[in-house]
Amino acid sequence: MKLPVSLFVFALLFSFLSATLAHTHENFLQCLTLYSKNDSISEVIYTSANSSYSFVLESSIRNPRFSTPSTPKPLVIVTPLGVSQIQEILSCAQKHGMQVRVRSGGHDYEGLSYVSPVPFVILDMINLRKISIDVENSFAWVQSGATLGELYYEIAEQSKTLGFPAGLCPTIGVGGHFSGGGYGTILRKYGLAADHVIDAHLIDVKGRFLDRKSMGEDLFWAIRGGGGASFGVIVAWKIKLVPVPSTVTVFTVNKNLEQNATKILHRWQYVADKFDKDLFIRVVLTGANSSQEGKKTVQAAFNSLYLGGKDKLLPLMQEGFPELGLVNEDCEEMSWIQSILYFAGFPSGQSLDVLLNRTMTVISYKAKSDYVKNPIPESGLEGIWQRFYEIETELAGLILTPYGGKMSEISESAIPFPHRAGNIYKIQYLVYWSEEGTAATESHVSWIRRLYAYMAPYVSKSPREAYINYRDLDIGTNNEGNTSYRQASIWGTKYFTNNFKRLVHVKTVFDPTNFFRNEQSIPPLS
Ligand code: FDA
Repeated sequence: MKLPVSLFVFALLFSFLSATLAHTHENFLQCLTLYSKNDSISEVIYTSANSSYSFVLESSIRNPRFSTPSTPKPLVIVTPLGVSQIQEILSCAQKHGMQVRVRSGGHDYEGLSYVSPVPFVILDMINLRKISIDVENSFAWVQSGATLGELYYEIAEQSKTLGFPAGLCPTIGVGGHFSGGGYGTILRKYGLAADHVIDAHLIDVKGRFLDRKSMGEDLFWAIRGGGGASFGVIVAWKIKLVPVPSTVTVFTVNKNLEQNATKILHRWQYVADKFDKDLFIRVVLTGANSSQEGKKTVQAAFNSLYLGGKDKLLPLMQEGFPELGLVNEDCEEMSWIQSILYFAGFPSGQSLDVLLNRTMTVISYKAKSDYVKNPIPESGLEGIWQRFYEIETELAGLILTPYGGKMSEISESAIPFPHRAGNIYKIQYLVYWSEEGTAATESHVSWIRRLYAYMAPYVSKSPREAYINYRDLDIGTNNEGNTSYRQASIWGTKYFTNNFKRLVHVKTVFDPTNFFRNEQSIPPLS
């Protein structure tokens, strides 16, 4: 039987590509094996022939949307034990044309730390998670593979009055989180995690081990908010810890539409960024069943941390936000570290050990973000409610995080994270689904995109800003290989506004061949 020419060419191309892939893979492994004469790297290399490969791959995948049979898988996963092994991986990958994806906690919303369209190796930082705390001088060194939970736990073990202003979810890796900004419940008091990075250890494309002094202020600026994946492998951060009082107060007050949620939320927009810096009140919006049979409503959960006791909080609320009707019984006093468990959703009385647990239940999701500079009118909020009545929203929500306070005092160019003064709050849109298959994915992703389109008149414009740690490939992507400054500016100015230019400059100096790249990495000028 004769094959049609096009089919023949395809078959030839396919076998050529497969052979090249196998070749790349084997040469890369051989290269690493050469090094293994001097160290134990062979013990931390996983290929699909290895029985632990799937376990290691899936151990920190947080979005099953990127863990389907058709998701491209790494040819190799390496979990280095030290700096020299990272240098070996980078050197072999460059010699043999393997792309490197660095993974710390694996929370990237678009799976960029463990999925790539080209042959790739995952450099997984799981074995590099040492944390050392210097209580006397209020700083810590934390390796990138540590989670926020591990960091918070270690801080609390050593001090009751030191804390750190990073994210709410304990399983997040500090490698990705700090390099994209990183915020939590004390951002109004202290700003972001990245604002508190005072030194870092990084391995660059040439395999050099650099600290703040040897990398210079440009590169040190870029990795604190510009996304680590573009500039090298961050091995560890030195961070300044912050004082926290021995007693803090938390509350969650729920209001649905029948309980005046629209008006209270509308009012919240006028006060949330102006409160005392010690007070953080975010709002979590979800669909809910109404008390009227068969009807749906929207619930606004006003979820708060106050850095002090309730004796001070209650008068503050009475003065600044009486519409919420906060009463003594709504408030619970606890230590700062217990508030970390509270915001992570653990029941009260839970042992701090849960912070060391790196596993979490995961279902597929898609997220997007926006910044709000002017209060949204009630009619605009009502339009959001309409979207909650759609079928895809069984597991959907909006999280509104107030800015102001310290966030407004830090200049837009101090670090690459530019969303400072002028922002009342940030919105995170989230939709989850447990059904498998492309139809479920498409309908939920389409819901969140429709909601995002609806929100356009109410949020920041030119550019429509977004938070890089809520990675969203809908806002633009690079071409694999070569991306023009102009093309990358489409997404780059949304994440970084005017800082994008300086990031491109730093990239051009430190990684001119664009070795460290992904779908939204900073491109060098060619
Ligand atoms: P992951 O390992 O996936 O890395 C993310 C990116 O950083 C990738 O591009 C990766 O290549 C790169 N990278 C990772 N380690 C690196 C290293 N050592 N050197 C160089 N590049 C590296 N954010 C927030 O600010 N506040 C919050 O409260 C939350 N809450 C939250 C909850 C949940 C459930 C999720 C899934 C995510 C969040 N986030 C968040 C977002 C989070 O900050 C963001 O996804 C971080 O990039 C995650 O960092 P990881 O190291 O876990 O991710």
